[in-house]
Amino acid sequence: MPQPKSPEPRKTSVDLSVRIGPMTLANPVLTASGTFGYGDEYAHVVDVAALGGVITKTVTLEPRIGNAPVRIAETPSGMLNSIGLENVGLARFISEKLPKLRSLGATVVASIGGETPHELERLLDALGSEKGIAGFEINFSCPNVSKGGARYWAVPRRLEKTLERLRPLTRTALIAKLSPDVTSVGDLAIACEQGGADAVTAVNTFVGMAIDLEPLRPKLNRTTGGLSGPAIKPLALARCHEAARAVGIPVIGSGGIMNGRDALEFLAVGASAVQVGTLSFIRPRGASEVLEEMAAFLSARGVKRLQDWRGGLLGDGEPAAQRREAGAGRGKH
Ligand SMILES: Cc1cc2nc3c(=O)[nH]c(=O)nc-3n(C[C@H](O)[C@H](O)[C@H](O)COP(=O)(O)O)c2cc1C
Repeated sequence: MPQPKSPEPRKTSVDLSVRIGPMTLANPVLTASGTFGYGDEYAHVVDVAALGGVITKTVTLEPRIGNAPVRIAETPSGMLNSIGLENVGLARFISEKLPKLRSLGATVVASIGGETPHELERLLDALGSEKGIAGFEINFSCPNVSKGGARYWAVPRRLEKTLERLRPLTRTALIAKLSPDVTSVGDLAIACEQGGADAVTAVNTFVGMAIDLEPLRPKLNRTTGGLSGPAIKPLALARCHEAARAVGIPVIGSGGIMNGRDALEFLAVGASAVQVGTLSFIRPRGASEVLEEMAAFLSARGVKRLQDWRGGLLGDGEPAAQRREAGAGRGKH
């Protein structure tokens, strides 16, 4: 039965706007790739235009059917998925999904994925000047594909060189989504910044595994999957903090955000915006609720601008506003 569309998030006096390169978002709450379809599936329950933005399912050059089932497993405080980038492919994305997305009035970030730098170039060549796309998130971090996944892309020099090739292909925002399963997310973030990315997303899912004892076998057909949800929040938060200390470009936090307070923690460690993923499977209105709770928290404490909250815990003990007044940049290391 169709659910009634919820009312728009209450108007708030707090200035929540954020800039991510050339893109201005009305607020910092985006839906995470792969957890919100192509936006239109949720439009009957969520006012997607009132969110900071909608990040689409990762699109690849050709359609993909993804991995064979079983490809979802529940774990304590989290979920494992090994979907493997099932998506409609570039041609149908342009002919079917983009027109619908445009009609929703949402700020759309298209997620793209490729097995090689050349595939990403072809995708951006085709989509870079399409109307209705405010930016691109490049999925450099899928843990569930055998080619062009997190391991392939977790090489700083490869990221830097690839972004140098992609940068001239679009004037919209270029966001690099990073894997957490690396020695240093900060080093990857620096490579992306040097390659010309406008922002990095920290982080995608963590590689995980679950076993059935009788019969003895992995719960997922592909053996491992990506862990998401509350179980990963402390891990993701630490990596977001590391990335925010490493680069001057905006960092977008992702991983286990289930309410407004979680979002505020990511913003406090230096994230400019956040993504809501697994929560949307539990409560389709989850992203809107995160936004409302966050705004209410700030408003109740007299914070007028999100900027005054952001980065309050970047690691040097001084509140962000004070550091900015003192003219201190975040620096590289
Ligand atoms: C079922 C599922 C599918 C996903 N598909 C994608 C995807 O296509 N591209 C991508 O960049 N991230 C994908 N992700 C990762 C999410 O965007 C997000 O980064 C991750 O789940 C951590 O956030 P969360 O704990 O809030 O879910 C997927 C996650 C899940 C659970």
